Amino acid sequence: MNDLASVETVAEYWNRRPCNIRHSTAPIGTRAYFDAVEQRKYFVEPHIPGFADFPRWNGKRVLEIGCGLGTDAVNFARSGADYTGVELSDVSLALARQRFEVFGLPGSFALGNAEELTSLVPEASFDLVYSFGVIHHTPHPERVLAQARRVIRPDGEFRLMLYASNSWKDAMIEHGFDQPEAQSGCPIAFTYTQSEVRALLHTAGFAATDIRQDHIFPYVVEKYVRYEYELQPWFAAMPRAMFRALEQRFGWHMLITARPLG
Ligand SMILES: C[S@@+](CC[C@H](N)C(=O)[O-])C[C@H]1O[C@@H](n2cnc3c(N)ncnc32)[C@H](O)[C@@H]1O
Repeated sequence: MNDLASVETVAEYWNRRPCNIRHSTAPIGTRAYFDAVEQRKYFVEPHIPGFADFPRWNGKRVLEIGCGLGTDAVNFARSGADYTGVELSDVSLALARQRFEVFGLPGSFALGNAEELTSLVPEASFDLVYSFGVIHHTPHPERVLAQARRVIRPDGEFRLMLYASNSWKDAMIEHGFDQPEAQSGCPIAFTYTQSEVRALLHTAGFAATDIRQDHIFPYVVEKYVRYEYELQPWFAAMPRAMFRALEQRFGWHMLITARPLG
């Protein structure tokens, strides 16, 4: 499936159901809606704020590849970053724009394919290029990485999340217990080992400075979709420290920090 889908198919999929769109039951596009989306996202994925390290980017130029509904985006902007978001899905991007308006935040956005990033944003201009859970969904991830290298400043940083193949979730998918995204039929979701990521980044002109894994979704899905958070019995039985050890060894999210090579 992975090598057949086109970028148009990818855009259609994310337009049908933008990422996290059902994180709130409030009317879509309202302040209450966006607040609830953020609350649920960081409750379920608590590793994100630490990884993004929003306050660090105060006064810096931040480019986000694949901003989705803009949850991390508003947090960069609230922290004083000069924020630009690029997104393939026009439905998602419209909501991210609306979110900035609702909260009165400054930011720029571009609709387009990150495989052609240099046609959307200026070269060598960003202190941080950030991309959470995006680049593994595009037909040619290596093109996005090469383009990211061109838009980052020589002293900039690249922080990205890619799906890990050496993970609990990948094992569950392989055995038919799970699927990569909330909605079935995701056209592309590549997964990587840490050494594959290091090699891909190197080819694109980056050196990975830190790679770690985190995040195992522990809730009963039938309850989670009703906004109830009941742990699966096998995770409920597990001491918290043991669950964290499992997440750090077999987490689905590979959290990567890289710097451009000279
Ligand atoms: C799983 S969502 C993540 C969204 C957001 N980063 C977040 O964490 O909520 C993946 C996003 O990547 C976007 N995307 C996929 N391929 C892309 C591409 N080639 N260029 C730009 N965005 C892309 C999709 O439209 C979708 O919004």
